[in-house]
Amino acid sequence: MDMQSTVEEIVATVRPLLRRGDVASYIPGLANVSPDKFGMCVAMSDGEVFGAGDWHTQFSIQSISKVFSLALVMSYDYDSIWRRVSREPSGSAFNSMVQLEADQGIPRNPFINAGALVVTDRLLTLTGDAAHSIRGLLRSESGNPSVDVDRAVAASEAQHGHRNAAMAHFLASYGNLENPVELVMENYFDQCALEISTEDLAKASLFLARHGVSAGGTPFLSPNQSKRINAVMLTCGTYDAAGEFAYRVGLPGKSGVGGGIIAVVPGRCSVAVWGPSLGPNGNSVAGIAALDEFTTRTGWSIF
Ligand code: DON
Repeated sequence: MDMQSTVEEIVATVRPLLRRGDVASYIPGLANVSPDKFGMCVAMSDGEVFGAGDWHTQFSIQSISKVFSLALVMSYDYDSIWRRVSREPSGSAFNSMVQLEADQGIPRNPFINAGALVVTDRLLTLTGDAAHSIRGLLRSESGNPSVDVDRAVAASEAQHGHRNAAMAHFLASYGNLENPVELVMENYFDQCALEISTEDLAKASLFLARHGVSAGGTPFLSPNQSKRINAVMLTCGTYDAAGEFAYRVGLPGKSGVGGGIIAVVPGRCSVAVWGPSLGPNGNSVAGIAALDEFTTRTGWSIF
């Protein structure tokens, strides 16, 4: 198969979908991104990279950062995090807090906002600077030392972060935060405001396709940990649309409201797509369509 042509064809195929859905505007700092952008990159486990469209353009990583915070926490502290967060699909929106009271302050999974705040809190305790650690991981795995936080997006999110603040205080009321609410929020907003291109994101996600082996060739996670993160991505990575994503794409994936999505083909490659217009569950419409095309054309699904 000619992967470069395949990626170019997929990008051309999804172009008519770029204006379907809406660019995230609940974070004003994200609202001005052009919906006509689209990028896609496939990073093979042997290091080869194929890309098309706006694959070098940086965008806001948003919730995709939650994969990297979880990976870091698991790398330091095998699985004690699972005492503080479950790993079941929530069946509700990424920013919903309705289950949190019924579940006594234990979020349903690490990818909804409540769960991600707990993971960031743990990473803060383990490293002293969660956002900095995630930035470091993205830099080392992508090989791009200039990956950094978009300060305007972080400030915009902090200014409009009432719902996340409510969730963090609610978690704290159950004793499920180890650090001050303000510090956890600052780190969480910074990690979500990291800017990255599909090329760097696909490369940075490769350890999940290489059974935990980092870009430098050393184990970052064990094969077992890598399997577990992929499993949680499959069941919870696209929130209330995880069933539809598994049905259409058939791969572990994680979305962000910046319009990015990563998907992992264990043993083979990682894929990053970016299209800013989102469907009702906060996932890129064209991004999901591109990943659907990708697994249909290549046959590379886990099923
Ligand atoms: O906390 C928020 O609402 C955003 N920083 C991240 C949400 C997000 O990306 C959900 N993903 N689709």
